[in-house]
Amino acid sequence: MVKFNFNKVNGTKVTVIFENIEYNSKLLQYTKERELFSGKLKEVYANLPFEGEKEILLGFGKKEDLLEDDIRKVFFKLGKELIRFKEQEVYLQLVELENLGIKSLVNAVVEGLLHATYKFDKYKSNRKDYPEITINLITEEDSSLLESCVKEAQDVISGIFFARDLVNERAEYLYPESLANIAKNELTQLGVEVEVYDEKQCEELGLKGLLAVGRASTRKPRFIVMKYINDKTNDEVIGLVGKGVTYDTGGYSIKQTANSMDIMHCDMGGAGTVLGTMKLIATRKVKTNVIGIIGACENMISGSSYKPGDIIPTLSGKTVEVLNTDAEGRLTLADAIYYGASKLNPECIIDVATLTGACIQALGSRVIGAVSNNDEVFAKIKESADFMGEYLWRFPVYEEHKESVKGKVGDLLNVTAPGTGGAITAGVFLEHFVENTPWVHLDIAGPSYSNSAWGTNPEGASGTPVKTLYNFVKKYNKK
Ligand code: BES
Ligand code: MG
Ligand code: ZN
Repeated sequence: MVKFNFNKVNGTKVTVIFENIEYNSKLLQYTKERELFSGKLKEVYANLPFEGEKEILLGFGKKEDLLEDDIRKVFFKLGKELIRFKEQEVYLQLVELENLGIKSLVNAVVEGLLHATYKFDKYKSNRKDYPEITINLITEEDSSLLESCVKEAQDVISGIFFARDLVNERAEYLYPESLANIAKNELTQLGVEVEVYDEKQCEELGLKGLLAVGRASTRKPRFIVMKYINDKTNDEVIGLVGKGVTYDTGGYSIKQTANSMDIMHCDMGGAGTVLGTMKLIATRKVKTNVIGIIGACENMISGSSYKPGDIIPTLSGKTVEVLNTDAEGRLTLADAIYYGASKLNPECIIDVATLTGACIQALGSRVIGAVSNNDEVFAKIKESADFMGEYLWRFPVYEEHKESVKGKVGDLLNVTAPGTGGAITAGVFLEHFVENTPWVHLDIAGPSYSNSAWGTNPEGASGTPVKTLYNFVKKYNKK
């Protein structure tokens, strides 16, 4: 728990230091002489106390270079140090910055500090909560305005942490039915209408792709449709589709265990993102209309599994030759996307999925790979990602990519040959189900889940790209 107050001078002093400004500070002189701290960006000096007095120094680097995301990272580091040194109350004078407004500064301070408090330790028998920390921000600006910035940053962080907790949860406890229950319990109370279709109802709907992937598991698929309607002045609605494979063994095209199958509880990262985003926009009461769609299932092995060589139908009527049962996500997404496109008449569809290892090969593990049929909507997503400090890059699509997904016996292939650009062809496959709706596909196989901490993200689930989608939805109709 972190509490924020304005204009209360209490606790340990925290001082912002710019590298290229002269200060009259004995502590700074001391740390500079010993090369312990000189104000470089993201340096934090918290060796307490000095000559009986406590003061923490924060390096802000060069004033003219500073970005909002830098500040977030500095305060993330400060948060880690406060936890490490068990400092429970600090105060800090907010500085004036040339290229960043006070609202952005407060937002970055709050988000950075809160990010430092995330942990997924529910399975540790000796777990201990962090002590409550109080942060006193000193400023001449209107504090009631800044309090609303603090509140928004807290809500954004809650949305991200909610997504992280879902993606970190193990498949033993998080499976299609329990995921659907969480969606109901968390979102209904915020005014979101949540419909859950069980296996039989999925059959009635004709979700044959989802059902084929999910049929080997004793934990049966669920189809989750979440409607957030909060702008009655227009009937435009944004569709968010999340891959909800709660566990991916690969099926008969089985995965290897280490660093592959053993983390595949994370294969509902797209669903986690959509749920986190829905929770966030509903908490913030954003004036917009959004429908979230998740096809949830487990890709398992049993006598009833779908098999390599099978040709399976989908909701759209198009058939798919399954050459590899580990390329299951696109079958579930084909139905979820087509359902959204054909029944809900959305302005645009954004799908989010831990879809391909090839995306990690292409862009590295921190970058979202995008495929899109619409420059305008893509530009909005890209702008939101840049603004929120999430990394995203769009893949090109050429004729050859389109050719490579065409089926021999059925309409489409679920995998393409090695060397054909697997992250791109997966996107091209999905485009067959969007019915010309403006669409952006986000492959989050890399950044959604990691075996090491990076930026303000912990090891494990990152909650990427909740922030981007929140910003996208918030601004979508505002231009
Ligand atoms: N869930 C995986 C993709 C994945 C890989 C997610 C690494 C997170 C981290 C997906 O279902 C999958 O297995 N994709 C295959 C596709 C291939 C068979 C065409 C892959 O990437 O190997
Ligand atoms: Mg797979
Ligand atoms: Zn998968």
